[in-house]
Amino acid sequence: MTEEIVIKPGVFYYPEYFSRAVQEELRDEILSYANELGWFQPTLPRWGTPFSVKMLNYGPLGWVSDKSGYRYQPTHPENGAHWRPFPIHISRLWSSLNVGFDNPEACLINYYQMNSRMGLHQDRDEEDLSVPVISISLGDTALFRIGTTERKGPTQSLKLKSGDVLVFGGPARLNFHGIDRIYPGTSTLLPEGGRINMTLRRVTKSAA
Ligand code: SIN
Ligand code: MN
Repeated sequence: MTEEIVIKPGVFYYPEYFSRAVQEELRDEILSYANELGWFQPTLPRWGTPFSVKMLNYGPLGWVSDKSGYRYQPTHPENGAHWRPFPIHISRLWSSLNVGFDNPEACLINYYQMNSRMGLHQDRDEEDLSVPVISISLGDTALFRIGTTERKGPTQSLKLKSGDVLVFGGPARLNFHGIDRIYPGTSTLLPEGGRINMTLRRVTKSAA
């Protein structure tokens, strides 16, 4: 077990949780998946403005966003293909961290290029908000910011590096968070640079 750092109540940080070898396995799996199915381009509800990240999902349900809104669905929004099952290292992570709830149903993959960012938002499209969200970072370092449950509340910044894992749940489950910037050239993991983030979520009610 790697080191656990409590950032604030409900936010746990595990620096370099995944070894380089595991990061490479995950990278190869994600890049072959993206090659097969293609990333989809999420857009903002209503206006249809494209996000600066591209997305894919693993698992029975995947998070998507388009003109009709945010939702979870079992298929790729652009070609109707079913999402691949979770890679083994991802399902193991849930049990290793003793999250203590039913298995996750969704793993959103965000692909950030050099200039991509993600504005402060809450993860609130899940039915069960008692279950934490687990985030995995691969590739270039990112400046992650996490605040409180208030949009204008004070925030803390954290540099997430390749292999890092972050958990937010309990009192922090609905905290605003986002990515201010990517630091290009800080990792050699992704052949074309950039960053991949995965977030594991329970979508429907957990019985446990
Ligand atoms: C997210 O909130 O969906 C992504 C966070 C991250 O990229 O670290
Ligand atoms: Mn989020």
